[in-house]
Amino acid sequence: MTRIGILTSGGDCPGLNATIRGVAKAVYRNVKDAQIIGIVDGYHGLIHGEYHAMQPSDFSGILTRGGTILGTSRQPYKLMRVIGEDNVDKVRNMKENYRKMKLDCLLTLGGNGTHKTANLLSEEGLNVIGLPKTIDNDIYGTDVTFGFHTAVDIATEVIDRLHTTACSHKRVMVVEIMGNKAGWLTLYAGIAGGADCIVIPEIPFDIKKLCQGIEERMDGGKAFSIVAVAEGAMTKQEAKLKKKERARLRVEQGITTLTETIAKQIGEATGIETRTVVPGHILRGGSPSSYDRILATQFGVYAAQLIDQKMFGVSVAMENGIVTAHPLSEVAGVSKLVPPDHQMITVAKDIGICFGD
Ligand code: F6P
Repeated sequence: MTRIGILTSGGDCPGLNATIRGVAKAVYRNVKDAQIIGIVDGYHGLIHGEYHAMQPSDFSGILTRGGTILGTSRQPYKLMRVIGEDNVDKVRNMKENYRKMKLDCLLTLGGNGTHKTANLLSEEGLNVIGLPKTIDNDIYGTDVTFGFHTAVDIATEVIDRLHTTACSHKRVMVVEIMGNKAGWLTLYAGIAGGADCIVIPEIPFDIKKLCQGIEERMDGGKAFSIVAVAEGAMTKQEAKLKKKERARLRVEQGITTLTETIAKQIGEATGIETRTVVPGHILRGGSPSSYDRILATQFGVYAAQLIDQKMFGVSVAMENGIVTAHPLSEVAGVSKLVPPDHQMITVAKDIGICFGD
């Protein structure tokens, strides 16, 4: 018998269930005597021994379902080796529960934090395979993560719908798109939705330049603009500071959200009425796009092949259209950010999108 543990960890995204289904379907067909154990709420379930044996029927009808049938939670990597007030040794518990479940391997579906813990467990001797999920698309080694393209589609629709109302009212609509460290989602949705300005963490901005971009549009006869701002965007001044200092500066300046501040400053500088829109978790909700269903299925099937070949300590990836895997030790702890000279930045700039840089 081959006993396979599976968990989903960190922020959810569309495509988690499609991936789980891909793994299960391929495992049941190709791995002899497979038994899948569902671990509840990510590493929380592994730490606290919350899990259940799953049946093939559990994986039926979940291709299109958003979220995760296993539940998820955020268990910060930096606290994994810290024993808190509850006196729980998280790493020891995870290893013990892995043994109690008699697992041959553990599949961890998650983002950067999940991969760091997956690597830790791999270094502790467990057989781990990572699968890259996140709407942020910021996992090292893979061209794309599942969840990303669905979120691009949703964010694009948000920007599309803002056009008509922005145009009718001759307003600047400032829309905040998720992405704390990486601007991939804002960049792609901004281009797909026809945003006029795109502000991402990797390209710190100057508010004067942003306003200049909007004024140039006004001079060209466009009375409205759409500004797509990544959640983690920062000004050129802020970019010189460390994260904590940046946060302190924002408190001192009375900035609650950068999006609101950008909208206010644009309004003051240009005299145009502004509004802010924050779709937030809507970007992570609902059914995966066809692209993500296919990607998730490819990743899931590949993970099943890795299990069959007993290839552990890796994370599944898509590279130049080919599904492959990289050592967890190479993937963990590295974020894939937008290079400021990336082709998509050039494309955006060549069609006149202003980055405020
Ligand atoms: O990592 C995915 C993500 O959606 C980020 O884009 C965002 O910054 C964060 O999760 C939000 O996390 P939470 O759902 O815990 O509020």
